[in-house]
Amino acid sequence: MKKLLNKITELLSKEDNEPRSKKLYGLASLYNTPDEIIKAAAAVAGRGFEKFDVYTPYPLHGMDDAMGMEKPKIGYVSFVFGFLGLILVLLMMWWMSGIDYQNIIGGKPFFSLPPSIPITFEGTVLLTGIATTIGLIILFAKLPSINSPIQDTEFMGRVTSDKFGIVVKADDEKFIPDDVKLLFQTAGAFEIQEIYYRESNLTNKTPLFNGKFFVAIIGTAVVTAIVSYFTLNWVLYDVVPFDWMWKQDRIDAQSKTNFFPNNSGMRMPVNGTIARGFLPYEYKGMPDSSVRLLANPLAVSKESLERGQDRYNIFCSPCHGYYGEGDGRLRDQFPKPPSLHNQKVMNWTDGNIYHVITNGQNVMPSYAEQISVNDRWNIVNYIRVLQRSKNASDEDLTKAK
Ligand code: HEC
Repeated sequence: MKKLLNKITELLSKEDNEPRSKKLYGLASLYNTPDEIIKAAAAVAGRGFEKFDVYTPYPLHGMDDAMGMEKPKIGYVSFVFGFLGLILVLLMMWWMSGIDYQNIIGGKPFFSLPPSIPITFEGTVLLTGIATTIGLIILFAKLPSINSPIQDTEFMGRVTSDKFGIVVKADDEKFIPDDVKLLFQTAGAFEIQEIYYRESNLTNKTPLFNGKFFVAIIGTAVVTAIVSYFTLNWVLYDVVPFDWMWKQDRIDAQSKTNFFPNNSGMRMPVNGTIARGFLPYEYKGMPDSSVRLLANPLAVSKESLERGQDRYNIFCSPCHGYYGEGDGRLRDQFPKPPSLHNQKVMNWTDGNIYHVITNGQNVMPSYAEQISVNDRWNIVNYIRVLQRSKNASDEDLTKAK
């Protein structure tokens, strides 16, 4: 551990002894006061230099104007990613609660806007924050390049402490060393330095695997993880009022309890509970005469008849036969049903046939469990077709041609 710490301190405090090349990166000048640096920046910008930058220990009002800077582009980055965050999170909520994992809570709609607003806000802020930070590092600090020649120079040490500095880069079109030096002097610089590229700047472009950089990143991650692990554990589980939630008297699913007589922690639904989307059949067990008012809600259509035929052939034909004549394949294994073409059934309302399917009749059992409400009506429509085909009128025959 001690060895590791020593190694880290050594890496962090390592002087930059890398040899500098002969190639000039730029000319730097140092100033004592904010006023001086603002005037100097205005002078440099006024001469038409474009590749220069100002370094100050803290932000200075009016510097953007003095440097003649355009409005920064970072606002667009923030906006685009913030908006993206909003859309993505809304889509996520819509998919999760509306489609993938529908939860019935007091009959509320599965997906709606108001409960999605907090997470939408969080998503927007999250993406805006991350994009703005990364955007700033890329746009202004020029990541992935992390080894600007002015890093670790004496100049950098001073402008991050108590001095103010300007660097005019040598690749500016207007760059003539003596002119720039003169400009710095007239602006009141107390020191002028020449900054050269490192040898490595000219050879390998982006040493992202710089040891110092790596140690700093990993060190930060480790420290953050350790600190948050201990503080969160302490805050969430040991500090009042949070421990109240942790140590609560509750009954978990499937667990035993002495609270209820049958020692089961889970309860049966209250009598009369109706599941969402499943209205109980209101004529259950009632005689035929009571269903006169039960009307067929399905219009006759090709789809309805085809579906009805399909369901009839599966569920009804074994006993009733494919044409409803009571000659099903079961033969003697089950009491033979009457033909569906008898006067009684012909005169019945649709509701009456539906009632027999739903409720059963004498030995015929109820098919309510196997056949959905809609399909029962589809079958009724199909039975009407069977009946008409067995008693076709002359008119039907002409139409069929
Ligand atoms: C297991 C054999 C069986 C199946 C399957 C079956 N039924 Fe029946 N069905 C019968 C019997 C037997 C009767 C006569 C019941 C009685 O004695 O009242 C009957 C009676 C009926 C009646 C009343 C006829 C009348 O004259 O009173 C209708 C309508 C009917 N069934 C329709 C259907 C439909 C529609 C299906 C398919 C969803 C179906 N049945 C499936 C055996 C069956």
